[in-house]
Amino acid sequence: MAAEKAKRFQEKANHRDTGAYAQNYGAHREGISMKEVADYYTQWANSDKYEVDLGPERYRGPKLAAESLCELIPENRESARVLDIASGTGFLGLELWEKGFRSIDGLDPSEGMIEAARKKNVYTNLICDFMSDQKLDINAGTYDVAVIAGGMGEGHIPCNALPEIIRIVKAGGYVVIVMREEYLVHVGDYKDRLEPLMKELEISGKWKKISRKIVPNYSFENKGVIFVFQKL
Ligand SMILES: C[S@@+](CC[C@H](N)C(=O)[O-])C[C@H]1O[C@@H](n2cnc3c(N)ncnc32)[C@H](O)[C@@H]1O
Repeated sequence: MAAEKAKRFQEKANHRDTGAYAQNYGAHREGISMKEVADYYTQWANSDKYEVDLGPERYRGPKLAAESLCELIPENRESARVLDIASGTGFLGLELWEKGFRSIDGLDPSEGMIEAARKKNVYTNLICDFMSDQKLDINAGTYDVAVIAGGMGEGHIPCNALPEIIRIVKAGGYVVIVMREEYLVHVGDYKDRLEPLMKELEISGKWKKISRKIVPNYSFENKGVIFVFQKL
């Protein structure tokens, strides 16, 4: 598994963007813990290189997520309560603000990323915490939409966070997950688990799948997948 991963990395590192690619790979290396992930992003944010390394020409997650939310909420965006999970430095918050959303909260476990996001002045509340199977200090049914762009990966948001994400969304509200498609099989926690769990939650009446779309050039020329669910 590790050798296979190293081979894939080597193939992709033969890319003109080796520096940015390697930096991103560091946040997703096999076996990385959730705490190490948060610390890694803080260092990356503090180096002032994050927004260059994962700028819009290399990483389209925020743009794709914002487009999905605009389709789901074509009007009265200013009153829709949105939780940007894994908000990072606030690229998605900014996109949403520009499209008329005015009630945007962010959640991220990395203090450095939270501080960078605060400077964007688009978030009502910024919560420094992990999205996991632990109950957050957020009331059930608070949000019209919970959205994740780029927060899924090795050591990132685990599969077993899905029930907690559903809990904090209103009935009739949406959960949007934008992630690299290959993580569905290359991340141990997700392989044969993430999509079956999504299905189980549908069968048990927690949410229904609205769409599952594969998109090209999500990040570093890799395909992305956009899941949209509606809470029941
Ligand atoms: C690639 S960045 C994406 C940031 C932002 N969503 C964007 O699209 O620009 C990934 C973010 O996921 C956050 N993250 C990692 N593990 C997380 C977890 N368990 N819960 C919430 N956020 C997490 C990291 O701190 C980092 O800010």
